[in-house]
Amino acid sequence: MYSEKVLQHFKYPQNQGVIKDADAIGQIGNPVCGDVMKIYLKIEKDVIKDIKFETLGCAAAIAVSSALTEMAKGKTLTLAMKITKDEIVEDLGGLPTQKIHCSMLGVEALKDAIKNYKKL
Ligand code: FES
Repeated sequence: MYSEKVLQHFKYPQNQGVIKDADAIGQIGNPVCGDVMKIYLKIEKDVIKDIKFETLGCAAAIAVSSALTEMAKGKTLTLAMKITKDEIVEDLGGLPTQKIHCSMLGVEALKDAIKNYKKL
């Protein structure tokens, strides 16, 4: 039911963990399934220099977090804000229909972190 790429990201997640001196943190929970995703950003001159995640959630949510951090690293904040759930799903080689909402969690957590940074 999951693509090989989803399983790889789930088994070997990239950028999992905490950035202690993060410049911004975003957190989003899904009220339906109860899953929570937290994104930490290290930003230099409007570019995401480092990004890490902590996700309490399903396999798809972990894979989404891992793929999202790979996509966002090195991007400007403006470009990172434009990452869509469809791009994440495509990067993962697809997600089962009932797991599409998990990709939304990633997009929203990243946006939340960037918005928090801009408010500082
Ligand atoms: Fe809720 Fe995956 S089931 S994020």
